[in-house]
Amino acid sequence: MINMIWAMDENNLVGKGDRIPWHIKEDLLYYKSKTKGQTVLMGDTTYFSLKGYYKDKPLPYGKIYVATIDKSLVIDGCEMVYDIISFLKRVDFDLWVVGGATIYKLSLPYADRLYISFVKGTHEGDRYFPTIDYSKYKLAWENESEQVRYTLFEKVK
Ligand SMILES: NC(=O)c1ccc[n+]([C@@H]2O[C@H](COP(=O)([O-])OP(=O)(O)OC[C@H]3O[C@@H](n4cnc5c(N)ncnc54)[C@H](OP(=O)(O)O)[C@@H]3O)[C@@H](O)[C@H]2O)c1
Repeated sequence: MINMIWAMDENNLVGKGDRIPWHIKEDLLYYKSKTKGQTVLMGDTTYFSLKGYYKDKPLPYGKIYVATIDKSLVIDGCEMVYDIISFLKRVDFDLWVVGGATIYKLSLPYADRLYISFVKGTHEGDRYFPTIDYSKYKLAWENESEQVRYTLFEKVK
């Protein structure tokens, strides 16, 4: 099962440089409650950005797959993914795709479940999620707060 989880604003914005464009604590807690201890896939940009936050502390996931096209890049404690498409085609376990923009775009066709946090309003930034064809999914769950609409979309088989 391939799960994707991200937050985006009303323009599908997800990032600003290597950072998230907003700071919404409740969404961070929601994200952590879903991904803590899980097997995750992320791009190298997102990995190094997270390392900047966590510094010497371990990232709060289980196994970490890091996608890069730089075959000389090896990160201690992580599994490297140099060919993301053949990797995604082979996934037969619970995987959480946690960004960033490039990795979301490449993974979307293979994802079974989309955990989307719709951040209300618009923000400044330069990394966007691609347009989603919602006719391929059904809304399985939603919950709304003042700042965010939390949703789960499941792929229609
Ligand atoms: N809003 C959210 O929920 C959320 C969550 C996570 C991240 N983000 C944001 O997303 C942004 C980062 O996104 P990004 O697109 O710059 O970086 P990214 O998706 O984290 O990583 C991109 C990297 O993936 C590698 N890659 C590209 N194609 C590949 C392929 N076919 N196979 C294997 N690896 C491949 C490339 O590595 P090379 O270096 O080798 O070229 C590329 O630099 C940041 O702003 C971050 O804050 C937002």
